[in-house]
Amino acid sequence: MDSPGVHIDFWEVRCYHARDGTNESMDERGSFMSKKALVTGGSHNIGQGIAVVLAEKGYDVAITYRSRADGAEETRKAVEALGRKCYVFQAELSQEDAPQRVVDQAYDALDGLDLTVCNAANPSGRGSILSATPEFINNLFALNFRNYLLTASASSRYMVRDGVPGVILFITSSRARRAYPDDYLYGGFKAGIERACESMAIDLCRYGIRVNCVAPGCIWMRDGGCPDPEEYPFLKNGIPLHRSGTAREVGEAVAYLASEEAGYITGISLRVDGGLILPGMREGKEPNALWYDSNWQDKVRAEAMEMLENHRKEMEK
Ligand SMILES: NC(=O)c1ccc[n+]([C@@H]2O[C@H](COP(=O)([O-])OP(=O)(O)OC[C@H]3O[C@@H](n4cnc5c(N)ncnc54)[C@H](OP(=O)(O)O)[C@@H]3O)[C@@H](O)[C@H]2O)c1
Repeated sequence: MDSPGVHIDFWEVRCYHARDGTNESMDERGSFMSKKALVTGGSHNIGQGIAVVLAEKGYDVAITYRSRADGAEETRKAVEALGRKCYVFQAELSQEDAPQRVVDQAYDALDGLDLTVCNAANPSGRGSILSATPEFINNLFALNFRNYLLTASASSRYMVRDGVPGVILFITSSRARRAYPDDYLYGGFKAGIERACESMAIDLCRYGIRVNCVAPGCIWMRDGGCPDPEEYPFLKNGIPLHRSGTAREVGEAVAYLASEEAGYITGISLRVDGGLILPGMREGKEPNALWYDSNWQDKVRAEAMEMLENHRKEMEK
């Protein structure tokens, strides 16, 4: 027998969510499709990419920015060119009351909230533990940790109140899982968010709300924050897929996790890093493994051809 409120057959899952004490189906297909999204830090790089991809998928969006009004305007124009609405709010999200205010503004402007993407963070924040100061730690804590939690908290309250089986997504980092020197704070907070996400996923699933993370690796940034690998071969050669990612690719991962196709996924972190953190210690006498080699595609192909030829000969014996 099915669990209460959930009907499952082989091809289809229908979820019934209690609204005002009644069991009400979401729609004919049990759709999880969300159409009103808040993206914090939508004025630049990854946040801009997320907002534009969501607009392409049919979302109206509200974005926040801190200082780059021109960047926010650029996002607004790109979203509106796709026929979707875009509301823009200025916020210093390290302030204690800002996350609630921004969620209220987005909810009012969009007339609801189905998806919140907590993206605005300071991508730097590195330094030796030997030189840690309360100020350094508090600043990063306020923006990269507290802001994420308060934004998620305010969003989920609206979703629960409205009976909306919404989605909350945190943009973390592959640094949440892989340790680097001088990264106890930025990487540590990203790891903390991923762990907090797992508990929130448990807490909120009873309301049909899913909570997940998207963890980018090295994503190309226009202002060179994460450099173009064409100019930095050491970087290019260190990533198994041999290139940086793009803001669009992070946006596509966000859109997937927000979609009904991901309706059975909660409490995970989806890495978008081209395999960046997979390699362990380099092995062998060769200076580097294949993915560190600048002619890797030719070499990989030549090796594959040789393997296929050996296999063919073996089979003919
Ligand atoms: N880029 C990467 O390779 C990479 C890799 C892993 C993880 N990430 C994560 O991805 C997310 C976005 O990174 P990004 O590289 O796109 O960063 P970014 O280019 O620096 O953009 C950050 C966004 O957040 C806003 N913001 C920054 N500080 C803020 C504050 N104090 N209050 C309110 N808003 C603030 C910025 O607004 P203004 O521009 O208007 O000031 C901007 O819209 C972050 O969570 C970062 O940790 C990035």
